Amino acid sequence: MSVCVIGAEKGGVGKSTLTENAAAIRAEVGYRVVIADFDNQGTCSKWISRREEHPDLAKIAVRRLRKEDRGNLRAFGELVQELVDSYDDVLIDVGGQDTGIFRAALAVADKVIVPLTPSPDDLDTVPDLADIVRRFDKPLDIRIVLNMTSGQPTMLKSMKKGLEGFSDVLPLMPKMIGTRVAFKYAKNKGQGVAELSKADGYDPHAANEMKDFYLGVFGK
Ligand SMILES: Nc1ncnc2c1ncn2[C@@H]1O[C@H](COP(=O)(O)OP(=O)(O)OP(=O)(O)O)[C@@H](O)[C@H]1O
Ligand SMILES: [Mg+2]
Repeated sequence: MSVCVIGAEKGGVGKSTLTENAAAIRAEVGYRVVIADFDNQGTCSKWISRREEHPDLAKIAVRRLRKEDRGNLRAFGELVQELVDSYDDVLIDVGGQDTGIFRAALAVADKVIVPLTPSPDDLDTVPDLADIVRRFDKPLDIRIVLNMTSGQPTMLKSMKKGLEGFSDVLPLMPKMIGTRVAFKYAKNKGQGVAELSKADGYDPHAANEMKDFYLGVFGK
């Protein structure tokens, strides 16, 4: 059993995309996987609805809080506990803006992945996150993954340089994920990039990067 949190304060960095893709590989490997969707937009839930149109794909469950329970720490804790009791792996997709839920997610996490893109805005969120990690009342297995890295070598270089100062608390995953349109095709189909057919836009680079990401998170 593991609880993996994919979270970040910054919007649009790939939290939902990486949650979906890691879940797809984990389920394909044979684990009972559930996504706990704490993204108010319900991005992963919508992806799962599309996935359900393909009964041949490995099954992934998804759960959300009721609208009236959003932000309610007790409801969050009860839902996560129920999922931990019922599945092999719980992947939590959570934004960092609602600090209460974000901290609650960190508290139940076995591992935490924070996607960031190479951008000054994303780097600006790092000092606050490092503070949270340093002051947290348990040691956190937390790592940053750089996502959507293609075509901006100068920014990527300065991002990596900026992150070096935080590597004691926020180490960087060694493999990055490029900007690949296959992620959009897969999203549209309720699939992971590794599951796409050639006709639907399979890209071996995207698939390999996602397999590396999966291995970096789950180890096998
Ligand atoms: N590696 C990638 N290559 C290309 N597009 C990507 C990649 N990762 C994510 N995207 C796209 O970027 C957009 C934002 O991704 P996503 O919805 O996963 O981010 P998020 O962090 O969950 O956003 P939010 O904060 O709104 O919940 C989506 O359109 C997604 O398809
Ligand atoms: Mg999202």
